[in-house]
Amino acid sequence: MCGIVGYIGELDAKEILLQGLEKLEYRGYDSAGIAVRNADGVHVFKEKGRIADLRGVVDTAVVASTGIGHTRWATHGVPNFKNAHPHASNSQRFTIVHNGVIENYHHLQEEFLTDVPVKSDTDTEIIVQLVEYFSHEGMTTEEAFCTTLSKLEGSYAIALLDANDADVIYVAKKNSPLLLGVGKGFNVIASDAMAMLSVTDHFIELHDKEIVLLHAKSLQIKKLDGTRVTRAPYKAEIDLSDIEKGTYPHYMLKEMDEQPAVVRRITQKYEDACGELTIDATVMNAIKAADRLYIIAAGTSYHASLIGKQYFEKIAGIPVEVHISSEFGYNMPLLSKNPLFIFISQSGETADSRQVLVKIKELGYKALTITNVQGSTLSREAHYTLLLHAGPEIAVASTKAYIAQVTVLAIVAYAVAGTQDIDLKKELGIAANAIQTIIDHKEDFQKVVEDFLATTRNAFFIGRGMDYFVSMEGALKLKEISYIQAEGFAGGELKHGTIALIEDGTPVIALVTQKEVSLNIRGNVKEVVARGAYPCIISMEGMEEAGDTVVIPQVHPLLTPLASVVPTQLISYYAALYRGCDVDKPRNLAKSVTVE
Ligand code: F6R
Repeated sequence: MCGIVGYIGELDAKEILLQGLEKLEYRGYDSAGIAVRNADGVHVFKEKGRIADLRGVVDTAVVASTGIGHTRWATHGVPNFKNAHPHASNSQRFTIVHNGVIENYHHLQEEFLTDVPVKSDTDTEIIVQLVEYFSHEGMTTEEAFCTTLSKLEGSYAIALLDANDADVIYVAKKNSPLLLGVGKGFNVIASDAMAMLSVTDHFIELHDKEIVLLHAKSLQIKKLDGTRVTRAPYKAEIDLSDIEKGTYPHYMLKEMDEQPAVVRRITQKYEDACGELTIDATVMNAIKAADRLYIIAAGTSYHASLIGKQYFEKIAGIPVEVHISSEFGYNMPLLSKNPLFIFISQSGETADSRQVLVKIKELGYKALTITNVQGSTLSREAHYTLLLHAGPEIAVASTKAYIAQVTVLAIVAYAVAGTQDIDLKKELGIAANAIQTIIDHKEDFQKVVEDFLATTRNAFFIGRGMDYFVSMEGALKLKEISYIQAEGFAGGELKHGTIALIEDGTPVIALVTQKEVSLNIRGNVKEVVARGAYPCIISMEGMEEAGDTVVIPQVHPLLTPLASVVPTQLISYYAALYRGCDVDKPRNLAKSVTVE
């Protein structure tokens, strides 16, 4: 959360920074700002709200070829002008942008800054005031920067300008993502490569507790103790068109439309020379050697993990526990003798998951990360990685990454099991076609939304078996983008309490794709209808009945989540649209949750 950018070169930095921030807006959009330096000094422009609002306050007459920028997801201090980054030290000499959380900022303030007035409620301002404090003690800027960093507890990706030195941006990172981008006659920094892809596709990874002195034509990476580090750039394998919205009104719609292609791309990526689906032998052996898999994830990725558990247990016969990452670290279960940890994460940056990874590595256990982002923190720090190949996911609400996670988990489970009882490649092809058919009729869901969700305050999703897990995902999607309070329930569990909430007209969306329990779930629908609920039944061909709201094409019983999730995504999308919500940037949220 929060995105930062920086540019030092020969061109006017403002537009490069603003465009970079627009690409990073998915990381937070409470406020935004830039600071640019020219011969007149450092000029700061910031505003509450979106980058579009920031553009309104940037003085176009100021031309400067060095600058830093920030888009904020508020942690310390409400989202307002005062708390927006960049923050300047009291003399205005130093200006900073920061992504992360400084846990001991209050202590540092008490220890060093009792006589220093602060202007904001943020932990970030303490960093820049400390740099100034140490420079007043006679240190060079680099020394003051490093001394400050050595005192910070928590996470940070930082860029700092010194009004007295036009030639450098000071950069540092610990537990928050940050990349250096290298160009001809300029260098940049960004929280992720997408932000700077329009100016360079060559990036250098920065590791925790490293600092960088970034100049226009060179850069020096050092450890905090001053030791020099050399690291070669790599070419980012992202196409600029992958991150553009094109003619779509929303990224979410574009990303839902891409889902059939994502399934097909994954099957190609995981094919061996003979066209068989397989995974890397080292990963395969690590999974086979484990007596239990512990899958760690959050949000939508957690819901995909619950499906993964079914695959590993039913197909490969390996016991699995699935845990919410924010709970696991502090509430660790009794572990088996020989566990393997699997981290499922679209972004590969989720801080809750990372703290578990750090902890289990300290305990000596091995980890596999399944992620969409090559080179992400969870990928770099785990022993093994498998990629989702979904392409960049920009909408805050995850859609195609979920489809990719379920697809990859099915492939991994089958590869480990080594069974030939189904032609998985063919079945995934059928699932991709089914998704396509649902998407081809997406406009039908506008009517579903008008009928069921136009004015409701709340809604329930129910399902049994795999449909239960999809119900949870459907409910999460609906609440995060339409703000309708929604719950996903196991159909049979509703009567044990929650049915008390059913009133006249309460929408209940029931998934009916599990043959062995289809009559049971229909029984649950009758129970809620008898109490006034307004049912929306999404059934699968072969299990449909007259009066069902939507009938989706048949897919293999193990792959039903790939098809049944799509109507729930479309319902959420059109509900958000109908209610005038910001589909791609729902309130209070950010993609890539890099704080615990
Ligand atoms: C919901 C959503 C979130 C993420 C969660 C984990 O649409 O996107 O619930 O799934 O924040 O993020 P990753 O998968 O990046 O670890």
